[in-house]
Amino acid sequence: MGKKVPSLSPAMADMMIARALERVDRSITAYGGRFPAPSSQGGVYPLMDNEEWTNGFWPGMLWLAWELSGEERYRAAADALMPGFADRVARRHLTDHHDLGFLYTLSTCAAWQLTGNEEARLSGLMAAELLLSRYNSVARVIQAWGDLSDPEQSGRMIIDCNLNLPLLWWAARETGDRRFAQAADAHVEQAAKLLVRPDHSTYHTYYVDTRTGLPRHGSTHQGFSDDSCWARGQAWGIYGFALAFRHTGRRDYLDLAAQLADYYLARLPDDGICCWDLIFTKDEPRDSSAAAITICGLLELASALPIVDTRRALYQAEALRMAESLDRDYLAPLEGSDGMLAHAVYHWPNKVGVDECCIWGDYFYLEALMRLRRAWQPYWA
Ligand code: GLY
Repeated sequence: MGKKVPSLSPAMADMMIARALERVDRSITAYGGRFPAPSSQGGVYPLMDNEEWTNGFWPGMLWLAWELSGEERYRAAADALMPGFADRVARRHLTDHHDLGFLYTLSTCAAWQLTGNEEARLSGLMAAELLLSRYNSVARVIQAWGDLSDPEQSGRMIIDCNLNLPLLWWAARETGDRRFAQAADAHVEQAAKLLVRPDHSTYHTYYVDTRTGLPRHGSTHQGFSDDSCWARGQAWGIYGFALAFRHTGRRDYLDLAAQLADYYLARLPDDGICCWDLIFTKDEPRDSSAAAITICGLLELASALPIVDTRRALYQAEALRMAESLDRDYLAPLEGSDGMLAHAVYHWPNKVGVDECCIWGDYFYLEALMRLRRAWQPYWA
């Protein structure tokens, strides 16, 4: 039999959730229908309109808060943001990138899943069409960034895209149109083959030749160096390959997620919260947002492994240890900040959002608490 799987007591989970929701309430007032920028400045998010890759995280938090509490004010605040997402995709306003998955999975697709909002479903499908248009059938990857005619960006995929693929799998299910799933299946296969190195660390980005389909080379964008392992990229990999198992049923993706998790877990400082690049194990800024994503990935992985697999208990215990560490030492102060998790890193090479709150860190922390509290149907499912 597998080892007993450690869990958080409901009372402790409820206390952590209450602390998190206090911060969501503060943000509803602070944002007033606008959006937090990707990362804070001095602990406070500048406000912006719906034009970044990150705007789905805030409605995602509101949907989670509604599911966690049943309080109508969260649903009302989330619903009020949906027309802006419909408008953005209809006008194709700043949609020239693959992060349509992050944007629409957590906003309109969650709205459809939870409330049956038809217009929201259609916006999700429109976003999936746009994402599909970025798929290159020779390279068999979805181009991450930039115009499709840009030779610099053509055939370039990034590990973060693992979390954009669920939008395509969802669209395939909703419409019966296999093109969506075929593109996602091909992309994740290329990601497993090319973005993951033999030691199960990951490249942040990888170029495939769009004339021949042959692999070119890996490189970094937000990591320390081309051959280091950017911590958040590894986190996107762990969670993304575990989700790929959910959508494709391919066991090798589950094994890969576990191998990436083992690499990650071997590179942690004592408190369980990674440095921003896994080449470092101390004395560098931490990335609490990578930790939050990893908790969700470990819990997805643990629940997908067979009951008799002893790694279930290990991954669950590590997830719990990280969540307790975040709750204890990484919550942003209630005074002087409007974030949830402090001490994240957005873009170290560009010196943007270093040791700040990052809005996806806030989202995944709340998702982690949801997953620790009860069985839950993920928006990524
Ligand atoms: N997907 C961009 C990032 O993780 O910063």
